[in-house]
Amino acid sequence: MLIATLDPADLRRAFSSFATGVTVVTTRSSSAEPVGFTANSFSSVSLDPPMLLVCVANGIRSYPVFSSAGSFAVNILADDQQEVSRSFASRGADKFGAVQWTEGQTGSPLLDGVVAWFDCRMHQIVPAGDHSILVGRIINYGYNNRAPLGFCGGAYLRFGLLQDATELGNRDGRVRVGAVLECDGDVLLEEDPRTHTLAVPTAAHLGNAAKRSGLFGKLAESGYEITLPFLFSVYEDGRTQFVVHRGNAICCGECRENSTIKLFTIDAIPWERIASPPERLMLERYQRERATNVTGIYVGTAESGDLHTVLSSRPL
Ligand SMILES: Cc1cc2nc3c(=O)[nH]c(=O)nc-3n(C[C@H](O)[C@H](O)[C@H](O)COP(=O)(O)O)c2cc1C
Repeated sequence: MLIATLDPADLRRAFSSFATGVTVVTTRSSSAEPVGFTANSFSSVSLDPPMLLVCVANGIRSYPVFSSAGSFAVNILADDQQEVSRSFASRGADKFGAVQWTEGQTGSPLLDGVVAWFDCRMHQIVPAGDHSILVGRIINYGYNNRAPLGFCGGAYLRFGLLQDATELGNRDGRVRVGAVLECDGDVLLEEDPRTHTLAVPTAAHLGNAAKRSGLFGKLAESGYEITLPFLFSVYEDGRTQFVVHRGNAICCGECRENSTIKLFTIDAIPWERIASPPERLMLERYQRERATNVTGIYVGTAESGDLHTVLSSRPL
């Protein structure tokens, strides 16, 4: 059915059902002043050549600068950067006063603390109604494993909250956090140097790679940078609550040979060396879910519980 007149405010509400990340798009004015605005209309466009797009409203104050800029950068905000998003969404005069930034190759500002940034040359500006589509040719980019800030229904979403909640809920040390980690088709398992048994890497808390604390620190010590996008299993064995994530590991070129963290082909896990029955079940499920492109969360005890499917390429 074709609707004759659309209410723009209502259409905006309908658009806002689409959950997005939050970016700050930056450039320099002709007098080299840094300029930027918050945008969630970002999209990747092309891998070869590498391109992205962002839509800029023709009415915003910085539109004249962007519409004549030769380059711009897109900064993808981390989930502790809500204030940065608010500031760059305002008409405030000194948006760059409260953030640290460096200059990208094109001269466009790259904000500190973001999840990823893309430095672009302006490829094309496509007029589209009351917005213009800036198409950027990416000339440099960077990213890390911070949790991104989300936006949906006019509200911010914090993907990292779950991780914070685990840390806060572990004041009495009853929680062990762990991760089923994949690195180039291999799974990372921790070897007990005494018994040579294998286990999913765990720690008392998630910690911090730079400070070499917790699970992030343990993996960083062995040369792995990890991302933990999904919760995988929450179970208790009577004494301890296990919170296990599912994620990826990148070997940063210094993976230690003598580390207790070892790589095993996912289809050839040495099952006889996995000492803990719940971990064996978890790894079997990981193999299954990986083969069928499904992600589930198990919630229960070491013996029984419920498996909730949260992501699937087939209908849930
Ligand atoms: C989460 C969020 C997403 C936004 N996305 C866009 C966008 O994609 N394009 C746009 O032109 N404005 C967007 N805005 C609004 C601008 O950030 C806002 O109009 C800002 O004041 C523009 O700055 P300026 O007037 O100083 O140029 C968004 C605001 C928020 C809070």
